[in-house]
Amino acid sequence: MMRKYKIALIPGDGIGVDVLREGTKVMDTICSLGGGVSIEYKEFDWSCEYYLKHGRMMPEDGLERLKDFDSIYLGAVGYPGVPDHVSLWGLLLPIRRHFQQYINIRPVKLLRGITSPLANRGPNDLNFMVIRENNEGEYSNIGGRMYENTPMDMAIQNSVFTKHGVERVLRYAFQLTQEMGKRHRLTAATKSNGINHTMPFWDEYVQKINKEYPDIQTDIVHIDALCAYFVSKPDSFDVVVASNLFGDILTDLGAAIVGGMGIAPSANINPEKNYPSMFEPVHGSAPDIAGKGIANPTAAIWCASMMLEHLGEVELAQEIMEALQIVLEEGKWVTPDLGGSGTTVEFGDAVCHALKELR
Ligand code: NAI
Ligand code: MG
Repeated sequence: MMRKYKIALIPGDGIGVDVLREGTKVMDTICSLGGGVSIEYKEFDWSCEYYLKHGRMMPEDGLERLKDFDSIYLGAVGYPGVPDHVSLWGLLLPIRRHFQQYINIRPVKLLRGITSPLANRGPNDLNFMVIRENNEGEYSNIGGRMYENTPMDMAIQNSVFTKHGVERVLRYAFQLTQEMGKRHRLTAATKSNGINHTMPFWDEYVQKINKEYPDIQTDIVHIDALCAYFVSKPDSFDVVVASNLFGDILTDLGAAIVGGMGIAPSANINPEKNYPSMFEPVHGSAPDIAGKGIANPTAAIWCASMMLEHLGEVELAQEIMEALQIVLEEGKWVTPDLGGSGTTVEFGDAVCHALKELR
């Protein structure tokens, strides 16, 4: 019996289109090698270009059209010409929220073949997970603007932290820490000194949920210090859990210490599987290199692996990671961001070739 998956593709803007093509090529290759999996894709052209034509990022029934897919595979959204808050609030955030993708998983893991910019740090030192709250927190659209174009011009944006939202992300992080084993250590990002309502609330629930996981040692660390520790002692983390904004910022730093934006993958997960989950590189559309064919597809290919893992295809997911690391180690086809002269397509082809060799 074939195991069949239906995947919605949203390449989006800029390099999102290029890197997603390589990710699907890698998935097609692994399916063609046997193993009983077949993937059916449907591509959606929702993007800033779509916005400029239609006045919206996706059609009115966009979410309805996505809801029956097994997963969503997204490139990047946002491009000069359309304000970033328009593209984000018109597509990515509605998908994350409507589909209750309240967990954002971002591995900070140094792959074989990549040199960290941190001196004397190897794959054993850089290997942890960041769990970012993905549905509420600082990215709430509650607030407003008043007295625009007057001397009293002002804006207010409220953060939203709910018991329901905070408990579920923390419970997920504790559970993951338990399953990951290692040292049973969970680090929670806070800023309860300066932000004196929502962050003490967050800390209180960290301590409360910790009682359900008595084996786990939690460290509640202020976000500013935590940024420094990502650089000075990255080997001390197993799982880091953070609110929406803190997790967003931390993970660009996380990406930087394991080789840059071209590497870092992310998964927007609805753990209950009531809705499709969405897999997308951490990076954006990179207008500075768009159209040059030199975007690093590593993050997108890693996302494909995370997607297959989420769908239950753990072996295929591991094979992709193995092939990816063979190509990175070999170094011949790596893209300019990693110091090579390979193109996006050459790198993707090399991963497909490595997959075939592995079999
Ligand atoms: P960016 O991630 O697109 O680019 C930052 C820097 O990293 C650039 O120098 C770029 O060339 C480099 N870079 C990124 N991905 C790369 C890759 N795969 N290979 C090689 N180099 C890579 O972030 P930026 O410039 O802040 O945003 C550009 C646009 O993307 C904006 O419109 C922004 O809103 C959007 N964006 C979308 C995201 C998403 O769809 N999830 C996430 C971040 C930004
Ligand atoms: Mg970000």
